[in-house]
Amino acid sequence: MSEATTQMLGGHRVHRVGFGAMQLPGSRVFGPPADHGRAIAVLRRAAEAGVDHIDTADFYGPRVANELIHEALFPYPVGLVIVSKVGARRDEQGGWLPAQRPEELRAGVESNLAVLHLDEVPVVNLRRVPEAGVPWAEQLDAMKAMHAEGLIGAIGLSNVSLEEYVSARSQVEVACVQNAYNLVDRTGQAVFEACRADGVPFVPYFPLGSAFLAQRPVLSNQAVRDTAARLGATPAQVALAWLLAQGPNVLLIPGTSSLEHLEENLAAAELVLDEQALSALDDEAA
Ligand SMILES: NC(=O)c1ccc[n+]([C@@H]2O[C@H](COP(=O)([O-])OP(=O)(O)OC[C@H]3O[C@@H](n4cnc5c(N)ncnc54)[C@H](OP(=O)(O)O)[C@@H]3O)[C@@H](O)[C@H]2O)c1
Repeated sequence: MSEATTQMLGGHRVHRVGFGAMQLPGSRVFGPPADHGRAIAVLRRAAEAGVDHIDTADFYGPRVANELIHEALFPYPVGLVIVSKVGARRDEQGGWLPAQRPEELRAGVESNLAVLHLDEVPVVNLRRVPEAGVPWAEQLDAMKAMHAEGLIGAIGLSNVSLEEYVSARSQVEVACVQNAYNLVDRTGQAVFEACRADGVPFVPYFPLGSAFLAQRPVLSNQAVRDTAARLGATPAQVALAWLLAQGPNVLLIPGTSSLEHLEENLAAAELVLDEQALSALDDEAA
């Protein structure tokens, strides 16, 4: 694999464009998919097309995304890096609740291991919910213990502040950081820049602006649309190529439940943005 199109992630070399499994369960990431066969087909096509980095969580469904990954891909292709996250859980109505205490982080890892049929999850992101009030040091200790026990191959971070990132880096090898970041939402800029300076993989979530915002602020952005029309690409490809252009440490996990969108997103790795495109898009932070 060429170094230009790949990056190390938790000790494994992966392609820079991976896949996020959050769009596979039912509406609002809750319950079974609207079309089970299509969800399985999307995962199998991703693997067949060379995707070797799949992002998931036990709380997608809950368990549904992991069950689909297991059904579609087990025994897993050599080189596939499954990245999961801990720190949340769902209530009976699909509400999102924090699960931040050390024993909850462990229960999250154990559920990932059971449903994915793995002895070790290659990378697990500690998804921080500061409002839950659980001390950062206790959470890092819990992750370190699970790493030492071989339940976690590498420790990643998600939704962290710059201070939390710096403090974690002084205590553990940080495999990756997954914070929200895209062309119109650059609130994660400081953490992104710190990761880029340190050569730590940065995996922006909501790279296309997420499924939660009906107005689709990234895909409907005028500069994105104009650039796409000029370069003969789609708005999603422009948004993804812009992220890839921000630094070699950027790894992408666009989420989709559609075979057509999957192909489009994977092809974004080939789209080269010229100077005109980059300067137009660089100005688009909301
Ligand atoms: N660490 C965290 O806290 C956290 C939080 C959120 C997400 N994540 C991870 O990050 C991944 C990416 O985020 P996300 O899935 O929430 O949002 P996203 O990738 O920004 O956007 C997904 C939305 O874009 C649509 N889409 C995908 N490809 C498209 C294309 N080529 N053209 C037009 N629309 C397209 C999807 O619909 P279709 O299904 O119709 O394609 C879906 O509505 C997730 O899958 C998840 O693995 C992590």
